Amino acid sequence: MKARLVDPFGRIHDYLRISVTDRCNLRCVYCMPEEGMQFEPADQILSHEEVVSVVQALAPLGIRKLRLTGGEPLVRKGLDQLIANLSVIPGIEDIAMTTNGIYLAACADQLKAAGLTRVNISLDSLNPERFAKITRGGRLQRVLDGVRASQKAGLQPIKLNVVLMKGVNDDEVEDFLRLTLDDEIHVRFIEYMPIGESGDAWKSSFMSLQQVLDTCEARWNYTSCDVYSNGPADSYRIDGAAGTFGLIHPVSSHFCGTCNRMRLTADGNIKPCLYWSDEFNVRPHVGNDSEVQAMFLRALGVKPETHDMLKALKGEEIRGVPSLRHMSQIG
Ligand code: GTP
Ligand code: 5AD
Ligand code: SF4
Repeated sequence: MKARLVDPFGRIHDYLRISVTDRCNLRCVYCMPEEGMQFEPADQILSHEEVVSVVQALAPLGIRKLRLTGGEPLVRKGLDQLIANLSVIPGIEDIAMTTNGIYLAACADQLKAAGLTRVNISLDSLNPERFAKITRGGRLQRVLDGVRASQKAGLQPIKLNVVLMKGVNDDEVEDFLRLTLDDEIHVRFIEYMPIGESGDAWKSSFMSLQQVLDTCEARWNYTSCDVYSNGPADSYRIDGAAGTFGLIHPVSSHFCGTCNRMRLTADGNIKPCLYWSDEFNVRPHVGNDSEVQAMFLRALGVKPETHDMLKALKGEEIRGVPSLRHMSQIG
């Protein structure tokens, strides 16, 4: 029988998230500390050739879906060539990207032509001043231009990721829902996760997503629906709307039971789980496909059944060592 990427809990992994850089042109409050980060030196970052080689080794084991992440993937040069080289690997069916959208307007057509299938764009406020505050300096209009350019380029479906934060952007739920009425846009409200946070500060911003359903119900009728590559979201459509909205609640109701994802960090570490600190450096093995495959299988061997974010929220003791890397360093 053909080898597959199966973990001790029987979960089959067909999704690889590849961080192409730990750098970012923004410093969102939930993703990076205010003072910024010490970025990895360029010689520690996997080259495009190394990334392609890793994916070539994994496709025969069943990796079908790739997601390019960062930091901000679009700060990395030559991304279109990387996408073109990944898209011809037999077995790769979907190459998506998660981006903050700031540089997207200028390159959406080029990325689509290279083989990018779709984009998830982080957008936490529709108010320019607030957007600048959350991102510590970002210009909202550039992201909106990026969304339009992605639509024109046919990078569909377009998903907007909104991390909902108490007292920060929770009064914008209705505005985000309205975006879905006339445009084929998929807005996903996300619970704030404690990734790379050693303290308790995130708890004051964490909020339940029930408010999204309450806000929607007060104005519209809606029903649950399916969206292409639904991922971890529960999706809904307001009656007659062109787009949809979704809830991603990794903290309060985790989706680890159906986890199908592994991560490759920009500096060449395999992370079997977003939450925990386990990492396996694959870089010395790149070029030797059977060694690369063995490293991924080894990483999967220690993949935990679930994270402990809910325990952390409740102040209960957690079972191991959570990752101290921020989301920007993981992807
Ligand atoms: P689709 O393939 O379009 O469903 O994308 P995705 O949801 O897999 O990826 P995206 O980068 O857009 O991530 C959206 C949100 O999902 C993030 O903001 C996180 O809250 C959450 N998320 C992504 N990856 C993980 C993970 O490995 N574990 C957990 N618990 N949450 C994750
Ligand atoms: N909690 C929830 N989502 C987060 N993201 C980054 N950090 C966090 C966090 N602490 C989101 C980004 C991006 C996606 C990859 O993860 O907004 O859309
Ligand atoms: Fe998978 Fe870990 Fe994320 Fe759960 S927390 S969905 S096990 S990566």
